Amino acid sequence: MNWVSKIKHAVNDKISAAGIPPKTDWPQLYGGWPATDENGRDRTIAEIADRQWLYENSVQDSAAEVKFVRERFHALRGYWPTLLREDFCGTATVCAEWVKTGPESRALGFDLDAETLEWGAGNNLQLLSEEAQQRIMLVKADCSELETSDIDVLMALNFSYWLFMDRQKLGNYFKACCQSLSKDGILVLDAFGGSEAHELLTEDRECEGFIYQWEQASLNPVTMEMQCYLHFNFPDGSAMPKAFSYYWRVWSLPELSELLTEAGFAKPKIYWHEPQDDGAVKVGREARDFNDPDPGWICYLVCEAE
Ligand SMILES: C[S@@+](CC[C@H](N)C(=O)[O-])C[C@H]1O[C@@H](n2cnc3c(N)ncnc32)[C@H](O)[C@@H]1O
Repeated sequence: MNWVSKIKHAVNDKISAAGIPPKTDWPQLYGGWPATDENGRDRTIAEIADRQWLYENSVQDSAAEVKFVRERFHALRGYWPTLLREDFCGTATVCAEWVKTGPESRALGFDLDAETLEWGAGNNLQLLSEEAQQRIMLVKADCSELETSDIDVLMALNFSYWLFMDRQKLGNYFKACCQSLSKDGILVLDAFGGSEAHELLTEDRECEGFIYQWEQASLNPVTMEMQCYLHFNFPDGSAMPKAFSYYWRVWSLPELSELLTEAGFAKPKIYWHEPQDDGAVKVGREARDFNDPDPGWICYLVCEAE
């Protein structure tokens, strides 16, 4: 059976690495440095840096996430998962890591933004063997309208599903996810919270060659709608302010748990993320029903159909 037929309904264009310029033609952080403009002026790092590269190198650790999720699946089911669906996949780093796990591993990535998908195809997919590239399909599509089937693992990370602002929209998304899974399939989400999630703040973290800044710029306590930004600052004093902008609702764990169970899942298993100084992902213990409140926690939710 053609594995791609597991997409029952996905709109718009499919994007593959074929025809996308190779990685070396894309400006990376210091790509082409020292670079000058047409008047011979040195361009700043911010002018030549690549925002997608900066994103991946500051907020993602897809290899660790894929390892965690596969091990969880194996512990629950006693065999290894093969088919991944990555929602809100961005540059598809999770898909790329997934297909590296073996010749049976296949991945479907969905995102609304063609430019971001093309960057992923031109960078992350191009680094894979041609055979491995054949096991990934990237599709430009709205994740709230997807119908797929027989998915072993459905991942929606970096809080992307928080763009659903009300119970009905998020509940419908969870229901569609539940219906897309195989009999043993799991949905994996992440979430953040704690007292700091209710504050306006800016946090800096030093990355190799740049400073990553996370800003919670506004929060409406009536709706829990939050405006966040990612900024990047460089050693030559230049900056890329508001490189990424997110407007979403900060959902609490009990709200998510209720919506997931209404959608057909069992109560989700929650695993705390133990923050590392370099932003790497280290997944810690499974949460108990009671935990002391941490001012700034991040967790993964592993959801099995009831
Ligand atoms: C926070 S990024 C997440 C990227 C990646 N999954 C990660 O873990 O870092 C959110 C992504 O969701 C995409 N997006 C926003 N709304 C969407 C929608 N309705 N359907 C599909 N993708 C959407 C954006 O284009 C963006 O790439």
